[in-house]
Amino acid sequence: MSRAAMAVLLGVAAAAAPAGEVEVLHWWTSGGEAKSVDELKRALATQGHAWRDLAVQGGGGDAAMTVLRSRVTGGNPPTAAQLKGPAIQEWGRMGVLANLDDVATEQRWDAQLPKVVAEAMKYNGHYVAVPVNVHRVNWLWINRDALRKVGTRAPQSWDEFFALAEKLQRAGIVPVAHGGQPWQEFTTFETVALGVGGADFYRKAFVKLDPAALKSGTMESVLTTFRRIKAYTDKAAPRRDWNQATAMVIRGEAAMQFMGDWAKGEFLAAGKVPNKDFLCVSAPGTERSYIFNIDSFAMFQLQSAAARTAQRALVTSIMSPAFQEIFNLNKGSIPVAAGVNMGRFDLCGQESGAYFTATAMINTLVPSIAHKMAQPAAVEDAFKETVAAFWNDERITSAQAMDRFVAAARPKP
Ligand code: GAL
Repeated sequence: MSRAAMAVLLGVAAAAAPAGEVEVLHWWTSGGEAKSVDELKRALATQGHAWRDLAVQGGGGDAAMTVLRSRVTGGNPPTAAQLKGPAIQEWGRMGVLANLDDVATEQRWDAQLPKVVAEAMKYNGHYVAVPVNVHRVNWLWINRDALRKVGTRAPQSWDEFFALAEKLQRAGIVPVAHGGQPWQEFTTFETVALGVGGADFYRKAFVKLDPAALKSGTMESVLTTFRRIKAYTDKAAPRRDWNQATAMVIRGEAAMQFMGDWAKGEFLAAGKVPNKDFLCVSAPGTERSYIFNIDSFAMFQLQSAAARTAQRALVTSIMSPAFQEIFNLNKGSIPVAAGVNMGRFDLCGQESGAYFTATAMINTLVPSIAHKMAQPAAVEDAFKETVAAFWNDERITSAQAMDRFVAAARPKP
């Protein structure tokens, strides 16, 4: 396809403006993630702009945030950085983000985006960030052959989940592929919290930080269920990257993984087919609810006009229907902008799209605390440390963990 034709497809003016360069900070380094980023690079190249990759290894983005802080405090911000939820507000308050209102008006973002998403992309009423996708966190990924070997259906409840885990263990298959990093433990934990406690409980605990939920009989059950899962992980789990854990499920060494649907990107990149080779099912107890994780890029104020032109091209491309489709087909997520053709999305994607709409209507759509959507960094970190400590050190009791949650939720003087 010619550059001009591709530019039309992406919804951008065929580049007459001088070429610039974008420097983009992100943490998409696994197989599926890298394929998705390549689509963005391609969109920029089509418009004649160069791409400088600032990829910081480390799923979940903790290391990337450290790099971002040092770049910005050093007076050398990137063009764009993967930032989400409350962090957009934190960076907005620092006065370093660019105003994207003109592009937003041109592309009618207010009409294209769900209201909550549009609000999250604005600081002080002005757009400063652009959303890429919607990930659903509360999935359980299952190797279909492994399930066949033990002759059981996908678990519909925690009782069925643990019964299946027992059978798999006896059959010599690692029941749960786990990557022992705090953010991964936190990801499993929030899914268990939703599955055991339900959406109202989840919201009270992790959005409202209500001490009565953070220290409660329900939270105790959540912690107990969470810890029970550990017995079904393998000894080599500590420090393992999430995509290595997914690879164990892909190869059939392990049967299941709790992970958001970026895991699907890995299955697809390995040539696996949903429903044939692997299953995407709602984690036990979470069929009627949805933990959302929206990836977005915040744009930084830049000095040079060429750099600003390239930045604008980046923003425009991200919100174009063609990009939202191709990126999300690779990433495992669903488009966040309206008007994208969902015809090419597989069953997991179709399901995610339907659940996203349905759960919003019945008020069981909740933001991911493990993926920086629900709380500012300081609160999120304190929770994450507590969850990881509880998982890794069996001497820590549920009561102690709950006390730490309550302390983490208390406003700091
Ligand atoms: C999440 C991010 C996803 C995904 C994952 C693992 O925080 O939202 O896009 O790639 O980390 O790196």
